[in-house]
Amino acid sequence: MAISQAAIDDLARKGAARGVDLRPALAAFEGRLQRQVTADLPLVTEASRYLLDAGGKRFRPMLVLLAGAVGGRDPADDRLLDAAVVVELVHLSTLYHDDVIDAADTRRGSPSAHVRWSNTVAILTGDFLLARASELSAALGVEVTRMMARTIADLCIGQIREVQASEQARHHGAQPLALGGWGSEARREHHLRVIDEKTASLIAASCHLGALLSGQGARAVDTLTRYGRHLGRAFQLADDVLDVTGRPGESGKSPGTDLREGVHTLPVLLALEAEGPRSELAGLLASRPEGGRDQRALTILRAHPAMELARDAARLEAAKATRALRALGPDDSAEAAVDGLAYLTDYAIDRVR
Ligand code: IPE
Ligand code: IPE
Ligand code: MG
Ligand code: MG
Repeated sequence: MAISQAAIDDLARKGAARGVDLRPALAAFEGRLQRQVTADLPLVTEASRYLLDAGGKRFRPMLVLLAGAVGGRDPADDRLLDAAVVVELVHLSTLYHDDVIDAADTRRGSPSAHVRWSNTVAILTGDFLLARASELSAALGVEVTRMMARTIADLCIGQIREVQASEQARHHGAQPLALGGWGSEARREHHLRVIDEKTASLIAASCHLGALLSGQGARAVDTLTRYGRHLGRAFQLADDVLDVTGRPGESGKSPGTDLREGVHTLPVLLALEAEGPRSELAGLLASRPEGGRDQRALTILRAHPAMELARDAARLEAAKATRALRALGPDDSAEAAVDGLAYLTDYAIDRVR
């Protein structure tokens, strides 16, 4: 609980200095979120509350509320709060599933749900949360439900696309896609597509929902969605850098998880391109993940200029997000809310400074 409250307070307090004070709305949001995760069977409630209570930044709910405030709506508006709960439930469900997929042992500073219980409990809890999100989104209307269904489909496609590439890596070594006729550019494009689908889709949907439910016009809805798309890319690109550079305990997750699972994120792809197929790094990544393999690979990567290039890629997407915000004319935007969004954009990349 400590991590969650500290993270949320920090974001909301600093955000308030720049934009809208989200704290009252976020307090109401937490109550609604808790109410959505109770079930007749105590284990279902316990397993659902587990990650929810363990922490999290509530980044996506903040986006819903701020995008709604751009349209002049009070962030504590009923429908905005429900939409914020929907996106956090979907996000939470993907975390339960993702840690099974990635065999990740830590999440939000606690043992992952599949470690605490089992894969079965983790997967079914994720499904339960998705079902609760669907029920709540039905109350928000067909348009919202359809959009969320499409977002969830994108998310699944992205996760499968990522697994597909790492399966190939496992079979063919560190240069698998090159062997399969893929050049470096195709590999980077593939990875960016994964990012769009698995992460940027839900972050864009959060902004879209806020804009839609606050009755903004088509132009503002499009602008805020485009903003969310770029922000989502920046967010995941930064998360990928943190998986290499982060210290244990810092992010509430175990660094090095992507490497261990054969997921070659942008810093790894750029370093492999620079080092070439006969380099120590390529040799390490083509070898079995045992002994000190990942530690050595992390040491090489941390000192590699590719890290700065990967940070630049995150900064570029954040700059595009900021530019998209400028397209909101003074007529259809509440200045303080736009400033709050700008604060969240800075936050997404400040993590990897
Ligand atoms: C983690 O998202 C999954 C990614 C898309 C990188 P967050 O970093 O928002 O996770 P929490 O909600 O704060 O735990
Ligand atoms: C993030 O995937 C997207 C999700 C659907 C959770 P990652 O596997 O990169 O996220 P983390 O680093 O485990 O949070
Ligand atoms: Mg993961
Ligand atoms: Mg993953």
